[in-house]
Amino acid sequence: MSVDRSLRSILSSSALPPNEARILLAHVLEQHYQLPRSALLSRDDMLLSSVAMDAWKALEARRIEGEPIAYILGKKGFHNIELLVAPGVLIPRPETELLVDIALGEISNRPGHIKILDLGTGSGAIALAVASAAPQSSVTATDQSPDALAIATLNAQSLSLTEQVQFRQGSWYQALDSQALFDVILSNPPYITAQDPHLSQGDLRFEPSSALTDYGNGLSCLEAIISQADQYLKPGGLIAVEHGFDQSDAVVQLMNSAGFNDIEVHLDLSGHTRAVSGRK
Ligand SMILES: C[S@@+](CC[C@H](N)C(=O)[O-])C[C@H]1O[C@@H](n2cnc3c(N)ncnc32)[C@H](O)[C@@H]1O
Repeated sequence: MSVDRSLRSILSSSALPPNEARILLAHVLEQHYQLPRSALLSRDDMLLSSVAMDAWKALEARRIEGEPIAYILGKKGFHNIELLVAPGVLIPRPETELLVDIALGEISNRPGHIKILDLGTGSGAIALAVASAAPQSSVTATDQSPDALAIATLNAQSLSLTEQVQFRQGSWYQALDSQALFDVILSNPPYITAQDPHLSQGDLRFEPSSALTDYGNGLSCLEAIISQADQYLKPGGLIAVEHGFDQSDAVVQLMNSAGFNDIEVHLDLSGHTRAVSGRK
């Protein structure tokens, strides 16, 4: 029996949710025919070659197995940039754009050059989005994971931000010179508790566990970052951290214990408390 290789038929018969099938088929059109996504509609009677059809089936099978779309495509949009992503790094989440916006708000209120620190940079998402939107900033981005830093470095190269963003390997502040001082410290650390069942479900199964969980109560990385921030912040400097939807009170408490002022809770686009900031 011959298989109908038209775009329309492929989409209507796919086992994937329609939006996911469209994203993956658009990727095949781009890779094999240099066609834009709009061809899914404007050329929906187009027949795929057998090579392109095999590529589509391979992508569809990976997604049916549960692999995240961002890993299958090898890229993910974040704030105003596009990042390469691969299994060694967390896939940047839309809610993390909140930290970028907090940093850009702070930068717009301060004249001159601004020094930013991004702890646990992963793909480089926060560091590179801030640097890209604020050319007057210089950013130091750290991670414990060499795999993450390799991908972050590739992203800095492809965005032409290697002058503005420096990468350092090490555990939190140990990656830095002891004299280093910053205007803004940002971090989206691992904050999922060790027992959280989500770690073995959905996309999270494919991401590095060391990027997701602190293997404890979810607060140990946040505590390490907040409790030592004072030493690395200039007077009047700002720290902002992302946290889980139910960790806001605990993070405010950590900021209070560390002696920060002007502590603010920030909501993400879904209305969840998602970040806390404080000022030295
Ligand atoms: C939740 S991911 C955030 C990645 C990226 N900033 C983002 O928002 O997409 C946390 C990152 O912290 C890194 N990390 C975990 N423990 C660390 C440590 N002790 N020191 C530095 N980085 C660490 C992980 O490798 C991971 O890249």
